[in-house]
Amino acid sequence: MEVELGVQVPESPNQIWTPQSWRNFTAHQQPKYTSAEDVSQVAKQLAGHPPLVFAAEARELRRQLAQVAEGKAFLLQGGDCAESFADFNANRIRDTFKVLLQMAVVLTFAGNLPVVKVARMAGQYAKPRSADTETVDGIELPSYRGDIINGIDFTAESRQPDPQRMVTAYNQSAATLNLLRAFAQGGLADLHQVHGWNLSFLQNNPQREKYAQLAERLQEALEFMAVCGVTSENTPAIRETVLYTSHEALLLEYEQALTRTDSLTGKWYDCSAHMLWIGERTRQLDGAHVEFLSGVCNPIGVKVGPGMQPDELMRLIDKLNPENEAGRLTLITRMGADTLADKLPGLVRTVQKEGRSVVWSTDPMHGNTVKAGNGYKTRDFDKVLREIRDFFSVHWSEGSHPGGIHLEMTGEHVTECTGGAWKISEADLASCYRTQCDPRLNADQVLELAFCVSEWLRAGRIA
Ligand code: PEP
Ligand code: CO
Repeated sequence: MEVELGVQVPESPNQIWTPQSWRNFTAHQQPKYTSAEDVSQVAKQLAGHPPLVFAAEARELRRQLAQVAEGKAFLLQGGDCAESFADFNANRIRDTFKVLLQMAVVLTFAGNLPVVKVARMAGQYAKPRSADTETVDGIELPSYRGDIINGIDFTAESRQPDPQRMVTAYNQSAATLNLLRAFAQGGLADLHQVHGWNLSFLQNNPQREKYAQLAERLQEALEFMAVCGVTSENTPAIRETVLYTSHEALLLEYEQALTRTDSLTGKWYDCSAHMLWIGERTRQLDGAHVEFLSGVCNPIGVKVGPGMQPDELMRLIDKLNPENEAGRLTLITRMGADTLADKLPGLVRTVQKEGRSVVWSTDPMHGNTVKAGNGYKTRDFDKVLREIRDFFSVHWSEGSHPGGIHLEMTGEHVTECTGGAWKISEADLASCYRTQCDPRLNADQVLELAFCVSEWLRAGRIA
């Protein structure tokens, strides 16, 4: 890996891509730092730091996502809405890792498909906001934009963007990745451990019988394999896994500083994560984020909200995946359960008609956010499920592959989303509402969701 600094910036846009050519385009949602000098000092420092991930790993993920695009695998992407500096500890990382793995096992077993696991972790620190400022009791301050940019406390000092936060985010990402790699290789990912299910969601569940049977069958399959001599000791595939990392490539100073040429291929990779995505608020065709991600060779994603038009989507695909390579581009639709049936079919039809190879994934969270009567931002479990179910049925009826799900979730027992087997009500939200930003599904809710989704997946594939 080499760091290439000081590349010449073209005079006008639409010329040669470089890691800094995004500067010739409008970059939305960027912080207003007070000192450009401090920012460039930090960027220079980060550019000299080791890459967090390696190009070959990103290429392998791209290969696996190509399988997803062809309907031969399923993508599970999930994690915090925003990681935080204050809440950083090994147990939280372990719990999210564990529940992602449990979900993957359920989906693999019942859905009969390999599952590609991608965490929203080890770098998910920058948040797009709908307003630049926030006013409380007549005091107006800059909005919180994620721990990589400013602090969540409502004080002028904390809300001041600080470039040093990029260094903290890098260090925390490195430590998180180190732990994830150890968990993936060092026993925690062993299938015989993973099924130490937290099945408490079954207790109140109307689908109890069905889910209990599924859990039992899975257990039996593992025992059968062990009896046949397929054990953790002799089969690495049983004791190890791979969990890739991802985040929204929002803060372009940071992403540029982590972008390196791969010494094997000479191509550019953003080595801050295996997969990067562009958010719904920064996916302008002529914007800096699309420019930046168009030039790195990682697998990339783009959020697709209900306002997207088919011709706009085609131009975006042209720009981000001009060679039409399977696995390069994931379209993460976030339509809202009530809007999906109206908006998604036209987009899917156009992509099918134009013969474009993409991974279609559903984010059933961001289109279903509501404010509860008591002021908490929340999402209802049934609506989340409904968006996933409708996403599946639209793809199946259009002859397309519903490739994956993208969730805001945690391994903790928080009360941020209503519903699920424990019937979390709006009044319950206050008891354990801990998110930095958007409400996340808790461990019970995501496991229940995985059981439910795996049934649809199986039924749909058989049909
Ligand atoms: C997110 O995924 O956290 C996010 C902000 O999503 P979107 O860009 O779809 O609003
Ligand atoms: Co969010």
